[in-house]
Amino acid sequence: MRTETPRAIRLKDYRPATHLITHVDLNVRLDATSTLVTVKLKIKKNPASTQKSDELILDGEGLDLQQIAIDGTELSPKEYKTTPASLHIRKAPDAFVLTTTVAINPEANKALQGLYLSRGVYCTQCEAEGFRRITYFMDRPDVLSTYKVRIEADADEAGVLLSNGNPFERGNLDGGKRHYAVWKDPHPKPCYLFALVGGNLGSISSSFKTMSGRKVDLQIYVEHGKEDRAGWAMESLKRSMKWDEKRFGREYDLDVFNIVAVSHFNMGAMENKGLNIFNDRLILASPDKATDAIYQSIEGVVAHEYFHNWTGNRITCRDWFQLCLKEGLTVYRDQEFSADIRSRTVQRIREVRHLRAHQFPEDAGPLAHPVRPDSYIEINNFYTATVYDKGAELVRMLATIIGEDGFRKGMDLYFERHDGDAATIEDFLVCFEEATKSDLSHFKLWYHQAGTPRITCQTSYDEKRSTFTLDLEQDTPPTPGQSRKKAFHIPVRLGLLGSDGNVVKAAARSGSETFDPELIHLTKKRQKFVFESVPVKPIVSLFRDFSAPVIVDFARNDDELEFLATHDTDGFNRWQALNTLATRLILARIEKLKSKTPAPKTTGFIRALSTALNDSNLEAGFKAELLRLPSQMDIAREIGSQVDPGLIHKAHKQVSTVIGRKLGDQLETVYKSMSTTKEFSASAIDIGERALRNTALSLLAARGTDNDFKRLMKHYKSAGNMTDAANALFLLAGQGKAYSQPALDHFYRKWKKDHLVIDTWFAAIAQAPRSSTLSNIKRAIKDPTFDYFTPNKVRALIGSFAMHNPSQFHHADGRGYRFFADQIIHVDSFNPQLAARLLGALGSWSALEDSRRKMARTQLQRIAKSKGISRDVFEIVTKMIEPSES
Ligand code: BES
Ligand code: ZN
Repeated sequence: MRTETPRAIRLKDYRPATHLITHVDLNVRLDATSTLVTVKLKIKKNPASTQKSDELILDGEGLDLQQIAIDGTELSPKEYKTTPASLHIRKAPDAFVLTTTVAINPEANKALQGLYLSRGVYCTQCEAEGFRRITYFMDRPDVLSTYKVRIEADADEAGVLLSNGNPFERGNLDGGKRHYAVWKDPHPKPCYLFALVGGNLGSISSSFKTMSGRKVDLQIYVEHGKEDRAGWAMESLKRSMKWDEKRFGREYDLDVFNIVAVSHFNMGAMENKGLNIFNDRLILASPDKATDAIYQSIEGVVAHEYFHNWTGNRITCRDWFQLCLKEGLTVYRDQEFSADIRSRTVQRIREVRHLRAHQFPEDAGPLAHPVRPDSYIEINNFYTATVYDKGAELVRMLATIIGEDGFRKGMDLYFERHDGDAATIEDFLVCFEEATKSDLSHFKLWYHQAGTPRITCQTSYDEKRSTFTLDLEQDTPPTPGQSRKKAFHIPVRLGLLGSDGNVVKAAARSGSETFDPELIHLTKKRQKFVFESVPVKPIVSLFRDFSAPVIVDFARNDDELEFLATHDTDGFNRWQALNTLATRLILARIEKLKSKTPAPKTTGFIRALSTALNDSNLEAGFKAELLRLPSQMDIAREIGSQVDPGLIHKAHKQVSTVIGRKLGDQLETVYKSMSTTKEFSASAIDIGERALRNTALSLLAARGTDNDFKRLMKHYKSAGNMTDAANALFLLAGQGKAYSQPALDHFYRKWKKDHLVIDTWFAAIAQAPRSSTLSNIKRAIKDPTFDYFTPNKVRALIGSFAMHNPSQFHHADGRGYRFFADQIIHVDSFNPQLAARLLGALGSWSALEDSRRKMARTQLQRIAKSKGISRDVFEIVTKMIEPSES
């Protein structure tokens, strides 16, 4: 807990480690309250270090030191000292073996960093700085060591004993009462990739033959009795292994690959070498218990953690400022994987929705930071949408700029040159420059300048000369610490469309330069692009496939948007055009609610939607995306300041109702035609059909007639899978008590014994846009199935409320904020990482209208002043209240 103002760590202060730890010999005796960790570290001076003295400082937190020796000789108290965060050895020899023994208490560990117990299973989480809670160590990613790990435990308490690398030895002790296992990891790794598991677990196994013909044993460990829910994760793993060989030439490098699912986990999953540890909600799936969204997340996250084996593990980060080197790149890789095995267009739309919902607000608010930050107080706070999702967009832009072939060449060089290294963003970019003989110095600005560029756009057509001119201007608003912005290198994919929607061929130039008419490079603040031999006035489709993470301000009329929504051959922009039309409708409704202006005309929008629904060439999943309205948060972002979430909620609902009414017959047809009786599959086609059917259902239900509600209830009761059931449950939970209560009660009775599925019940309660919601949440907290120490539950109930229930969270009387602050303060007292992440839900508070803004600020100040808040929450809350000046 905090005693003084925490200090910021800065990239410019990076120094090579004073020492290297080449080998770790770890011995762990598992015990719930007193686990003994004895470690022998082979240490030598780092030739690259500039330190003059012989002092060695190791990190360590919450460790009870019981023994310390150098080369077998006990140290006297004069030779070392400990502080709450470190161990200092005054005079360390040039090369030696340091032995320490510490005791730690896994049962008391509710922060879930280091070694802890999850439903009786011992497990670890070391990224970013958890290893220091297991033993004294140089807990930084540029210290790489080989590991030998021996784990010892009671045989009936922990029948399965796992660590990184390959199994080496196992045996019984005390006549079988106790046992041990030894694991060896030959690949040098930073300690954040260390992992250990001990417990009684069931498992499923399979194997994979690598491209060079080696056999790898695959194993997924889950709670006993849940083995039949691990199959989808196993299939996803094998698909990932195959894909990485094919697409990037990357082969797996150990004899075994293990995954363990645990119930207590701060994040989604972790890429520990050869032993990935997962939040069980991202492993377990069966048609009756997991939604299609979960199926797709499992596939994507299993792939993501597997892909880290090369981008993160074989090549790791020099320091935590380089986090995007592994995370942005690996997100790009998992997105490409999903695009390749599912629908590329639908995948892209989902990525962009996610980016806009999470990263854009971050970039526009007090927590804005560059993809590669230059300072932090608590590194756990920097696993952000900016580092991850904007980081992935930067890799995608890089591939766009240098081309697919150049990108693959650069990746090959990166893998070859940096295998075994702790690398930097500079190391990464140089590989692409060398492989393609290009200069990426301007592009690199994306890594250290924060903020989302706004692009304004003007066009003109000269009939006589047959030229089309595009004027683009970029402007990036100030962000904390960066008041003046330079122009970015922005790749713009585009198409000049003729009246049939096809791209017209044109020659293109900017100044004296000629360029690809379908890919232009905006590199200055203002730039004019001229297209010649354009026979008729075209309609321009800009930023096709969302070629750059920017906001486009393009004042064009609804007719042009309708044209694009109907004819654009770029699926993403087709969706974008409809999405823009829908946004305009909702905004106009808000104006109508405020000042009684006439209701906006919906004709063009409805016509475009209707045409798309009737188009048998379009896949169901894509149609579902077209039907899905922008979220209330999307609208809030569009408005930007003086946001009134209550008004947005009303207008949003009205537009749903209008669509439900106007497209009623067509939606009925869609609803009926999407089959429900065939056997479940998580294929792109089937998931798309269920998505379309359920989106149609939501719009039909928005009409709010008794028949609509009855149909909802029927949809719920007759659902043959969790996707249909959960979708109906969420809609029903938002209705009056007569419908919400029976549905919620039914769901509860059916699933209360399943600690994963019941989280859907918590989320349905929390997301209901009803005035009774807050009291229902308070009641749910007291339910025996709720548990504050399980992050999934806190996120399902409190996180969903803050993130997905704008009208109640932002209730005009401030009750949502008061409750939220209470919860943050409470959760922070045992799990700071979770509390700090939840707090981000209020990141856009300063865009609220005056009254709500004042109430939100009061609650933020209360959090800031509350006694003993963690470094994690301290950093977030102070930045939220007083963003640093430039
Ligand atoms: N390395 C992270 C897990 C992690 C995050 C550890 C934060 C410590 C602190 C892992 O690779 C990851 O990124 N997981 C994501 C899911 C992924 C698909 C984006 C997660 O856990 O949310
Ligand atoms: Zn990751």
